[in-house]
Amino acid sequence: MLRTEGIRKTFPGVVALDGVDFDLRAGEVHVLLGENGAGKSTLIKVLSGAYRADAGRVLREGQAVRISDAEAAEKLGIATIHQEFNLVPQLSIAENIFLGRQPRRLGMVDRKKMEADAKVLLERVGVTAPPRTPVGKLGIAGRQMVEIAKALSLRTRVLIMDEPTAVLTSEEVDRLFAIVRRLRCEGVGIVFITHHLEEIPAIGDRVTVLRDGRSVGQVPATTPQDELVRLMVGRSIEQQYPRETVKAEDAVASAAPLLRVSGLRRQGVFEDISFEVRAGEVVGIAGLVGAGRTEVVRAVFGADAYDAGRVEVAGKRLPGGDVWASHTVGLGLVPEDRKGQGLLPDASVSDNLGLVSMREASKGGLVDRGGLRKDAARIADRLGVRMAGLDQHVRTLSGGNQQKVVIGKWLLAKSRVLILDEPTRGIDVGAKVEIYQLINELTASGHAVLMISSDLPEVLGMSDRVLVMSQGRIAGELTAREATQDAVMALAVGTSAPGSTSEMEDSPRGH
Ligand SMILES: Nc1ncnc2c1ncn2[C@@H]1O[C@H](COP(=O)(O)OP(=O)(O)OP(=O)(O)O)[C@@H](O)[C@H]1O
Ligand SMILES: [Mg+2]
Repeated sequence: MLRTEGIRKTFPGVVALDGVDFDLRAGEVHVLLGENGAGKSTLIKVLSGAYRADAGRVLREGQAVRISDAEAAEKLGIATIHQEFNLVPQLSIAENIFLGRQPRRLGMVDRKKMEADAKVLLERVGVTAPPRTPVGKLGIAGRQMVEIAKALSLRTRVLIMDEPTAVLTSEEVDRLFAIVRRLRCEGVGIVFITHHLEEIPAIGDRVTVLRDGRSVGQVPATTPQDELVRLMVGRSIEQQYPRETVKAEDAVASAAPLLRVSGLRRQGVFEDISFEVRAGEVVGIAGLVGAGRTEVVRAVFGADAYDAGRVEVAGKRLPGGDVWASHTVGLGLVPEDRKGQGLLPDASVSDNLGLVSMREASKGGLVDRGGLRKDAARIADRLGVRMAGLDQHVRTLSGGNQQKVVIGKWLLAKSRVLILDEPTRGIDVGAKVEIYQLINELTASGHAVLMISSDLPEVLGMSDRVLVMSQGRIAGELTAREATQDAVMALAVGTSAPGSTSEMEDSPRGH
């Protein structure tokens, strides 16, 4: 129903697509797989009219078509949910769904009809918020559902989704999959991009793998993961989680605590938070979304205030709510929401990578710019940042490569205690391993890492100890050996009543 032949697209210094053939059938979920910068988003931008290809053809039902803009795509029944959403946060859900084509009556926008129509669409995707709710009030999953509702209203035959699950909880993923399956049954063709390989057999029919702007293979979604990885990165990955836990355990047991948090509380958000991270250790924080993990680490870092308790770094008490104090003692935070925080989109890759280190280095007066650039080149190379060169603006990097730059700049800065909130979101399997290696190097040289991740295999694979949070409390602590998927989940879903700390051990309780 939709096909491309020999699509080519270049940017200054980069061949993003180098003759891509791709085809989508009605009623299939076609997964587009590839490393960060392989060209996935560029291909779908060509299909959605955001970019014009330099060469090649797009065929819809066998006819060559020109997709010069979003409107042309819409006319062809193609709707796209981009990595960055296109909704207007100030407008209501209904206004967003019908933007530019609101039903009119006597020359006026017919709000009643618009909201009634929106309500029907929202029911189809399981959104309960009233159609008048401003989109800005919705969470990420809600916004995505609004995008899908909008696509449904356009009688979409081709739905393209760029990493829709990257920011969803597992429950939200289940809900999304249910909707995708229903659309597939209705004969909609779906292009689905993801870096989560385990999702592929669950939702996909076929997989096209892109590497360096070329299609290197089309395989069934039942293809084993290691085979997919080999196609994607051109080699196999021996060890996904290269942490040497046992060795670390021995070395760390006697080490001094670098980060000590005691009795931290924020009214109605979290309470009774006490833990330590020692030099050389990776401590993971697991828990369901909403358990308060991000809130806790933001308070620890000083990005948010807290009501009671204390935070010490290397024996020095931090004043609380003071980010600069954290910088001074060498406490760093890579936030969950990286887009808004800390990337200078119009600055170069090397300047962005050097940002934190430079601030540190310049404290002594002189800045070794050449040295910083060399370090930036080294880390960009290790993380495989796909770019035309170190001077390329970060804005024009692919989504995952922008993420690598944010993580890379903190790894480069070598904070004494580094807090990572969802460090590998949107990052491809190969680069993940490099990030883990860099974490290992940091801890091997005596630094401490505190890591939040919703990716349970990642927490289990990389942590020396795991703290499990549930409803604003630490529900339990597990050593690397004790921490299994079941043990963590049992603690995470536990509904221990506030005030009863003894329930920690009492895990499964019929969940
Ligand atoms: N506007 C642009 N200007 C310059 N280069 C660009 C632009 N858009 C994309 N590129 C380059 O094209 C290549 C492919 O990028 P694309 O966004 O398609 O990757 P992707 O496969 O979606 O990766 P990711 O998994 O990280 O999202 C990258 O090298 C990127 O830097
Ligand atoms: Mg992309």
